This record gives sequence, structure tokens and C-alpha cells, in this order.
Amino acid sequence: MSINLEQFSKYSKPGPRYTSYPTALEFNEEFKYEDYINFLKEGKEKLSLYVHLPFCRSACYFCGCNVVFTSKHSKMSRYIEYLKKEIDILATTIDTNREIVQFHFGGGTPTYYSANELDFIMTHLKSKFPNWSKDAEISVEIDPRFFNKEHMEIFKKHGFNRVSFGVQDFDERVQEAVHRIQGFKQTKDAVDLAREYGVESINIDLIYGLPYQSLESFKKTLEKIKELNPNRVAVFNYAHVPWLKKTMRKFDETTLPSPGEKLKIFKYTIDFFTNNGYKMIGMDHFAKPDDELFGAISKGELHRNFQGYTTKGGANLIGIGLTSIGEGKRYYAQNTKDMKVYEEKIDKGLLPFERGVVLDDDDFIRKAVIMELMANFSIDIKRVEKELGIDFKEYFEKDLEKLKEFVDEGLVKIDDKKIEVSETGALLIRNIAMAFDAYMQKYIGNKKSFSKTV
Ligand SMILES: C[S@@+](CC[C@H](N)C(=O)[O-])C[C@H]1O[C@@H](n2cnc3c(N)ncnc32)[C@H](O)[C@@H]1O
Ligand code: SF4
Repeated sequence: MSINLEQFSKYSKPGPRYTSYPTALEFNEEFKYEDYINFLKEGKEKLSLYVHLPFCRSACYFCGCNVVFTSKHSKMSRYIEYLKKEIDILATTIDTNREIVQFHFGGGTPTYYSANELDFIMTHLKSKFPNWSKDAEISVEIDPRFFNKEHMEIFKKHGFNRVSFGVQDFDERVQEAVHRIQGFKQTKDAVDLAREYGVESINIDLIYGLPYQSLESFKKTLEKIKELNPNRVAVFNYAHVPWLKKTMRKFDETTLPSPGEKLKIFKYTIDFFTNNGYKMIGMDHFAKPDDELFGAISKGELHRNFQGYTTKGGANLIGIGLTSIGEGKRYYAQNTKDMKVYEEKIDKGLLPFERGVVLDDDDFIRKAVIMELMANFSIDIKRVEKELGIDFKEYFEKDLEKLKEFVDEGLVKIDDKKIEVSETGALLIRNIAMAFDAYMQKYIGNKKSFSKTV
């Protein structure tokens, strides 16, 4: 790929991560519980269910996820009881015949639970929500350090066709610094086990920007990943937010690679995967031709939601469990992050909804445009005009002006029919998408809310 590193570093500025939701719009308290319930009751779209299992045995110091560290199994069992009750409340609120096209177990470490416990959750969920699409995407995040054959039996029983393994980096020095010792053999055994059970798509998560990482050390990790031959790889830019996550203060910041080294690592990673049969998908994923994301990008069918890139756009995402985020056509909703409050709400027969945001017409239009840009690196102006009922250039007159510097640098091309982002521009997609974000101005000056885009 022809990537201009100079341009890349010049334009890469801090910004919102755009992983959970597509603009810097903020969740607020104005979105009331009753409004959320109405959205759930009235929704007709197909369903995407996300169940959060927040527990982990010990902290990986880089972790930015919503995690509860515990060695007490009683705490984890208690959570399952509440999860069961939450599913029951949800089933009395929503039309349970809506078709489920996507399911995801996220964490934390879902496989820190035993196979029997995961079986119990799935069986209960299916008893309340029976209408699963034949080609539903059913996935789970797995930490290879906590994974065995019994887990895989249960995943097979319930039709799991995608698994995602956390690796991050195989370098021993990096692993020691981030408090996550995970051998290559242990990881290979986990990948082989999933393959043996016929899992269609195996993903591996890597992070660049961790302590002690260098281009030379990361090259070795990439060779090992090649040997594992995953269908998909996610290469996340390390989001360092020690003011939000205390464990990130546990390593020496001076051991973090410099922005220049990070750029070299990222550029090398892109070349490595594209030279080894993968296509770059969106801003941080790579997929092999046998993965459905690969075909989706050329057909313009790629979408980005809270769970990452997917071909199942338009489904109503329902977040179940502590901290989970849900997404409807016109809203985002988040469950409480506080276990005590979670239990109290459920004891009262309420869903654990805490806050969210309702999208007005302008938010809705901007979300559609930002999502399209982030997924496909282009905007089909005529199609967007037809679907959203706007005159694109008139509606986004001011926003298009903000894109001018990218156009002048050849990173973005605009004509009457299309906006197209160049290969280097694709790496800057978050910065380019910010031009359409009505909430950016409010955020500028509050850089601590952001992690760096590179
Ligand atoms: C919930 S975790 C993965 C599941 C499992 N607990 C594990 O660690 O294998 C999801 C992924 O988020 C990514 N991640 C976590 N913290 C991050 C951070 N601060 N910056 C970038 N990516 C991060 C990691 O790649 C991780 O595998
Ligand atoms: S990276 Fe995974 S295992 Fe490590 S603390 Fe985060 S969620 Fe837990």
C-alpha cells in the first residue's frame, strides 16, 4: 500500500475513539427510563443481543474494558442469577419473536465462567428468545489462558460460529510489563481447538503502542500470528487513558513507544497483512478472502457498530448486563456500571438502564454519514441524498469546508457523486470523519476525554 507517513503524522490529531458510538455526542440523563422502554416496545427491527460478562482473574495493565477483577466464584454466580432475571424482565418488555441475527458474549473474560455456567445462560436466553436466524452471527471473546474443550463443546452446542482471541503481543518483555503472560503454544492450542470444532471465523486481537514494543519486536509477533492463520485480525491502537483506568499507571510511561515508532509499527503491520493475503477493513481490521468482511467491503455492505465491523447493519442492539451499550435507529442506551445499582434495579423489576441519548434528525443524518465513511472510506452522495432526503452539498456546506485541508493534501477527493478517501486518508479516517461531527467543537479543549488517534 502506498502510505505517506509524513502526511499521516501531520494530520493525525487526538479525537474521540468512535468505537462505542459514532460521534462525540454525549450520553445524558434526559433520556428517561420510560423512553427507553418505549423504544424497546415499539421496535420492529431484527435483534442483535450483547451479553456482558465482566469478570477477569487478574488485570492486564493496558485494559480499557469494563472489567470486574475477582477470584471469588460466588460473586460470579450471583451475577448469573441477576442476568437471568434481567433476561426475564427484557422478555416481558420486548416482542420476543423478533428475529435474532447476532449474538455476542463480551467481557471481561466470558470463559472465566465454566462451560456449564455459559450453557445455563445461553439455554435460558433461548428459552425466552426462541427466534434465532439460521445464519445468525454468534460470537464470543476468549482469553486463551482461560479456555478448554468443555467451553468449546458448549459453544458448538449453541451454534457459535465466530470466536475472538485476545493476544495483544507475544513479546515476553511486553507481556511482563503489561502483566499478561500468554505463551504461543497456549494460544495455538486454543486456536486449533476452535478450528477442530469447525468455527467459521477466528479473530485475533493485537494492540500496538504497548510498553517496550518496537518495530523489531512486533515483527516477531506478526510472524507468529501468520502461523496461527486467523481469518481476521484486529490491530488496535493502544488507548492510554491513565486518568480513567488506574491499572494503566502501573507501568512506566517512558517505556511506551514514541509516536514515530508506533507509526512505523502500524505501517509495517498494514504491509505485512496485505502482503499475506489479508485485506484492510476499516481502520483497524484485516480479513482473509474466506471471511465475510472481505466481500462486504467491495459490495458496500460493511457497517460499524459498538461491537466493531459487521455485515449485519440495521439490527437493534440490546445490551444485557453491567455497563452494556444498546443501539437503536434513534437512540443509544447504556446500563449502569455499578454492580450494587445493577442489582437494586433488577430487584425492583426494572431493566438496569442508566443513561443514553436520543438522536434528533441532524444526529441521525450525521451518524449515517460518519458510519458510511468509517466503514467504506467513501460516501455515495446520490444514494445518501435519496435515503436521507437531503441535498448533500447544501446540508453539509460548512462541514465540507472543514474537509478542504484534506482535499488539498490529496487525502480526500470530492466530486458531485462521491467522496473518496485515499489509502493514507483511510488511516486518518477518524480525523476526517470528525469534520461531520456536530459535537466536536464542544470537545475541543477537553482533550483528556480523548485518546490519541495514533
Ligand atoms: C474484552 S477484551 C478481550 C477478551 C479477553 N478478556 C482477552 O483479554 O483475551 C477486548 C479487546 O480489547 C482490546 N483492548 C483492551 N484494552 C485496550 C486499550 N486500552 N487500547 C486498545 N485496545 C484495547 C484488546 O485487544 C482486547 O483483546
Ligand atoms: S484484556 Fe481481557 S483479560 Fe485482560 S483485563 Fe482486559 S478484559 Fe480482562
